Amino acid sequence: MDGNAVKADLVLILDFGSQYTHLITRRIRSLSIFSLCISGTSKLSDITSHNPRVVILSGGPHSVHTPDSPSFPPGFPEWAEANGVVVLGICYGLQLIVQKLGGEVRVGEKQEYGRMEIEVEKSAALYGSKRVGDRQLVWMSHGDEVARLPDGFEVVARSQQGAVAAVENRVKRFYGLQYHPEVTHSPEGMETLRYFLFEVCGINAGWKMENVMDEEIKVIKGTVGPEDHVICALSGGVDSTVAATLVHKAIGDRLHCIFVDNGLLRYKERERVMETFESDLHLPVTCVDATDQFLGKLKGVVDPETKRKIIGKEFISIFDDFAQELEQKLGKRPSYLVQGTLYPDVIESCPPPGSGRTHSHTIKSHHNVGGLPKDMKLKLIEPLKLLFKDEVRQLGRILNVPEPFLKRHPFPGPGLAVRVLGDVTQGNALDILRQVDEIFIQSIKDAGLYDSIWQAFAVFLPVRSVGVQGDQRTHSHVVALRAVTSQDGMTADWYYFEHKFLDDVSRKICNSVRGVNRVVQDITSKPPSTIEWE
Ligand code: XMP
Repeated sequence: MDGNAVKADLVLILDFGSQYTHLITRRIRSLSIFSLCISGTSKLSDITSHNPRVVILSGGPHSVHTPDSPSFPPGFPEWAEANGVVVLGICYGLQLIVQKLGGEVRVGEKQEYGRMEIEVEKSAALYGSKRVGDRQLVWMSHGDEVARLPDGFEVVARSQQGAVAAVENRVKRFYGLQYHPEVTHSPEGMETLRYFLFEVCGINAGWKMENVMDEEIKVIKGTVGPEDHVICALSGGVDSTVAATLVHKAIGDRLHCIFVDNGLLRYKERERVMETFESDLHLPVTCVDATDQFLGKLKGVVDPETKRKIIGKEFISIFDDFAQELEQKLGKRPSYLVQGTLYPDVIESCPPPGSGRTHSHTIKSHHNVGGLPKDMKLKLIEPLKLLFKDEVRQLGRILNVPEPFLKRHPFPGPGLAVRVLGDVTQGNALDILRQVDEIFIQSIKDAGLYDSIWQAFAVFLPVRSVGVQGDQRTHSHVVALRAVTSQDGMTADWYYFEHKFLDDVSRKICNSVRGVNRVVQDITSKPPSTIEWE
């Protein structure tokens, strides 16, 4: 199936701010169906321009009774009905359908949160006719409930407490689920979504990473003129590497990559990353050693945000120099910059009412290190901007990016600067940290734990403690070990290591890294802490 046919079967999600909205998109894509998510309050013309086959109205933290609670645009139900577009409301989305089409939603007498049993009461398009009388566990999360349905709708499933759990209007092709089928706590939810999309909506599956790759290559070739040059800053992370590899496949050596050694990289990071770029990926990369430039500017700086700003500024000035050098060499200034922006960074989400926030494209500001130099006037190429992280890994596999590279833990843009607390130039802090980190990470790999941990690293603490080593009292440094599990880095839990593992690692560190006599482990989740220490 070609890319256009895939897009003809688009499932569009209108986001009303539920924490699960991205999960719906993911679940649908896992069925090989192309799915996109846009703001729930998008204009009708934005919705229709995507030409979707199905529109899903997501859940959200709002109540339809709150003034200014977000809603689909006027004319949406009429447009959907007239064009045979199937609509499914989930939770708040269901309540919006009910209220806007003339039914009634009221504040529930008994609010329903968590796991509940529901019963399919009627032969229903949503569940198929064989399932009448079936009971299933689902994940509910709502305060309001449907009191009266709009004309033409019927209840097809109820909770044990008698609340409406699923509704449908087969003529209009509007459906609604009061619970969240997309979460794993609704064990049959995925089957309900599958049945709904394939059997009720007649969607064809065709979303394959190979299609995505071919299409992105076509788009890049169509965008970048035959004489144009493109630059890309490689961080050594998965996203920029996959983005650069894809662009390289499209335009060859008119792509110019730069990898900056800012003196804040991990043990042998520069050698390892350059080896992968050159030997495995055959990417043309210029490696710039800017250690002195960065560390010079960071000397004596202890405030974490100031460190980030300094690092961001230095990156920008190096990119600028790189663009200028290329202009001299090529006789033409590069016109494009590749960025490894991912879909979660661009999805608009609807913040809770009263939060004072509006819809936003803003990426967490402290994660923008090394971002766009505004005065470089480069146009952006963001070939991954429709993909989630695991999809980028899939794409990387097709592009032959080595597997261990694709599975690397995230590493922050400011590097070890946010892992040496305080002044990064103090004594030999960076060296000590590199050695400790290497022992910790290698031990994790040797124990086969690397892929079960989301992120692991060591931290240099700017304190000394008393110890005794080789019959001598020492006054040396303390290092901390941090390992977390997480889905997306927004929340995280500390990883539970066996005693024996920790004991071995601690011994190895104290026995082989000069200047360290104490090792501690960070046992805090996020929140209340963050993953990094600064
Ligand atoms: P925090 O520390 O905010 O980290 O819980 C969440 C995730 O983001 C990474 N991180 C950064 N990445 N620039 C980056 O590119 C930064 O300044 C930065 N700070 C944190 C962190 O490593 C974790 O994966």
